Amino acid sequence: MGTTSGVPGQIGQTAALSGGIAAREVVLVGLGRREAYGPNAARRAYGAGARAARDAGARTVAAALPPTTDGANGVNGANGGAQAATEGMLLSLYQFAKYHTLDTPAKAVDHLTFVGADAGQVADGVRLGEAVAYGVMVARDLATEPGNALVPIDLAAAARQIATENGLSYVEYDVDAMGAMGAGALLAVGQGSVNPPRLVHLTYEPEGGYTRTVAIVGKGITFDTGGISLKPGQNMDAMKHDMGGAATTLGVMAAVAQVAPKVRVFGIIAAAENMPSGTAFRPGDVLTAMNGKTIEVISTDAEGRLVLADALVYAARHGADAMIDLATLTGGAVVALGNITTAVFTNDDALCDEFLHAAAFEGEKAWRMPLDAEYRDQIKSDIADLKNSGGREASAITAAKFLEEFTEGKPWVHLDIAGTVWDKKGGPFTPRGATGVHVRSLLRMLAEA
Ligand code: BES
Ligand code: MN
Ligand code: ZN
Repeated sequence: MGTTSGVPGQIGQTAALSGGIAAREVVLVGLGRREAYGPNAARRAYGAGARAARDAGARTVAAALPPTTDGANGVNGANGGAQAATEGMLLSLYQFAKYHTLDTPAKAVDHLTFVGADAGQVADGVRLGEAVAYGVMVARDLATEPGNALVPIDLAAAARQIATENGLSYVEYDVDAMGAMGAGALLAVGQGSVNPPRLVHLTYEPEGGYTRTVAIVGKGITFDTGGISLKPGQNMDAMKHDMGGAATTLGVMAAVAQVAPKVRVFGIIAAAENMPSGTAFRPGDVLTAMNGKTIEVISTDAEGRLVLADALVYAARHGADAMIDLATLTGGAVVALGNITTAVFTNDDALCDEFLHAAAFEGEKAWRMPLDAEYRDQIKSDIADLKNSGGREASAITAAKFLEEFTEGKPWVHLDIAGTVWDKKGGPFTPRGATGVHVRSLLRMLAEA
């Protein structure tokens, strides 16, 4: 018998064992308490195990299949367990190393397999786990890319590639096409940059026909300087991830064909770069959005709601029955909920519950915020239908109130991911950096729709 460094019981706690076995090293990993075991425990534990194996220098990892439960905690048989374990391992091993030329990561796992009597019976779970993890990694990759490497046409090119690889239809609107559609708000945000804006629309259509269309709409500001209402320099580099909503949207679209939901799915991204220049839009400007509503610009830094206004009207008018937008929209959401929890707003209890149920299942924390009519007063304008800033008080709510004006009466959920798009510390299966938040929740929600 070999040596161990203690038998782990806590979830994600690991111990290594070596000698007397064919493998060079065995990692034991705690699954936590039986009553609390479920897909989130499996993800955390297998994530920790895979990382421990990598840190020990393993290039090939063979994992024992996870235990299954009666489903009480959501593990749907052997395939559900295998899916969660696959996701945990792949997501914890994620690295973004493409710009390192000096200290390239020496340790990487290149083979993952399951061993055990039932390994052949979990092929579906493994396949789904790979697809979902791939979607999350697409979102992480895009959100991590710097502003010089990912301008709006690059985001559109990434979307086009995802569409091509997954058999999705792809439509892209340039400045002229957006002008013809009356997308005056999105165009205004993009007009100060030499990198022109784009509106992109991907469609997944289920094979057996569909009765419902769900639109995922993402804020795609590839860099947010604030524009003429320039942001302070401190931490402005973080604004490269102001396209995190678009990144999650594309992550969902990269996996949706594998998950094969019964509903039609739109992935819509409003891509622009918010820059100050001689052609930039100004505070005081009045814009006309696609639905004809006029907007007084108070701050050019409240640009996310402007690009989303047109994208939401576009989605509603192209056949969406339900809309979910994701946006790194407000500092207020970060102040309220930190980096832990997404702020959720809605005009439809049932749709919101669909999302919250899926998010809870996936362990992606989300909390519903108020959207009472009283908040609408804060975005009244003297000169136009609306103004784009309601000031500091309840700023995440008034931003959502603004978006509500562009939902065309459709059921809608707004996810303010300003805090949750980026993890400064890193978690059990999320390295420090872009999280790809809500790719899993949305895929789960679509699968159950
Ligand atoms: N992209 C920012 C919001 C943001 C802040 C995202 C911090 C991630 C981290 C957004 O465009 C913005 O600038 N919002 C302003 C709006 C204000 C001017 C009404 C804000 O929340 O301060
Ligand atoms: Mn801004
Ligand atoms: Zn922004």
